[in-house]
Amino acid sequence: MQRSFIPAFLSGSLLGTLVLGLSVPRSPGASLDPRAFVSGNWGLTQPGTTGVSAMQLAVTSETTALILDKVEHNPLTVNGHVAWASELNFNTNQVRPLNPLSNTWCATGSFLGNGTLVSSGGNPIVITGQNGLQAIRLFTPCNDGTCDIFEDPARLHLTSNRWYPSSVRIDDGSVIIYGGSTFGGFENGQSGNNPSYEFFPPKNINGFNGVKIPSQFLMDTLNANHFPILIMLPDGNIFVAANQQAMLFNWRTNTERRLPGIPNGVRVSSPYSAGAVLLPLTPENNYTPEVLICGGSTVSDTANPSSLSSQTPASAQCSRMVLTDAGIAAGWKVETMPQARVMPELILLPDGRILIINGAQTGVAGYGNVGDQVGSSNADHPAFSPVLYDPNAAAGSRFSATGISSTIARIYHSTASLTPNGSIIVGEYNF
Ligand SMILES: *[C@@H]1O[C@H](CO)[C@@H](O)[C@H](O)[C@H]1NC(C)=O
Ligand SMILES: *[C@@H]1O[C@H](CO)[C@@H](O)[C@H](O)[C@H]1NC(C)=O
Repeated sequence: MQRSFIPAFLSGSLLGTLVLGLSVPRSPGASLDPRAFVSGNWGLTQPGTTGVSAMQLAVTSETTALILDKVEHNPLTVNGHVAWASELNFNTNQVRPLNPLSNTWCATGSFLGNGTLVSSGGNPIVITGQNGLQAIRLFTPCNDGTCDIFEDPARLHLTSNRWYPSSVRIDDGSVIIYGGSTFGGFENGQSGNNPSYEFFPPKNINGFNGVKIPSQFLMDTLNANHFPILIMLPDGNIFVAANQQAMLFNWRTNTERRLPGIPNGVRVSSPYSAGAVLLPLTPENNYTPEVLICGGSTVSDTANPSSLSSQTPASAQCSRMVLTDAGIAAGWKVETMPQARVMPELILLPDGRILIINGAQTGVAGYGNVGDQVGSSNADHPAFSPVLYDPNAAAGSRFSATGISSTIARIYHSTASLTPNGSIIVGEYNF
């Protein structure tokens, strides 16, 4: 395959301005050395808007992206009420409203092996629509503008309320839906915790016959285990990280193998959100799984939120570990980003590098909680400049600047994704 992608940078906020990237054609048959990076400059473009805030975003075809918001007073409407989901067409930069029945706020999403996306969990009724706490929403992508979100709450729902769950596709093509809380809140706690997981489609497994399965890890990681990090590994295990802890989870046998904790007390799940990625599996590294987690916060998870500050520095730490017996014995390797970030996104680029984008340099996730909110934001000092990370470079010289800087804060509920032409689409939640 010719590696002729172009690292452009595409910004798609509801209100914002779009800025377009430079295209740097690459000669056919160029080297396949993963370190032969595409040269050229990154740029910003804003060819359109997303109609609803892009709090959740998934590229669903060569030409489309699915965008999910919470139920709020968006400019886009559908069937006489506000819209909270849309499909963006990359060719036309137009959006089309979609029709979920339930509130998608704080839901999770993963593709099934057959290509249908499962959005699950979410939020109660706010303005209109149905309670999404137990929602299962199915979206089978199309590129002819005809597909929509399917919900049948009476027949198709989770076993229990899940606000801030996470999910990932597993090796049999189904999706595991993991954790969250039964009602919302700045962070999780004993009373709201839903320390369990389930599958879609449901499974009769380990004696649980489709009902939720308890998770000790989710009991041990209170209070900061909303939106846990889940990464599917080549051997069928799932890497899970929440709060200051990590484990390998075998869903077939329902067994947990605890890993060394995140170094230096850094918390990595909401509201102390880090970004995480499975580094590229390549012939050169013999497809050996290695995870990278960047950012987060060392702020207390037991303090009263009103005693926390939007000005407390986030963590600049990246932690990296090879997930083999030898790698686990060697433990986490720690590196420092050029800037601290809470709520970053880590995007795998086609040339094997990682783009670290979005987030704030101080504060924590959420809004309306800390003592010195900025507007209603719990975070401040947006990290406006994305940074590149080259996992193959020598330690100490892995980070480099992209040379671009946005003017739009991309903090709580911001999103970013690689698109089919190698650009990055970025969206956000607007307060
Ligand atoms: C990539 O796709 C985006 C979205 O359609 C577009 O704005 C951008 O111009 C494209 N970039 C190139 C180099 O074609
Ligand atoms: C994929 O599987 C799900 C669950 O069984 C089903 O609802 C959906 O229609 C399937 N999608 C396709 C494209 O076949």
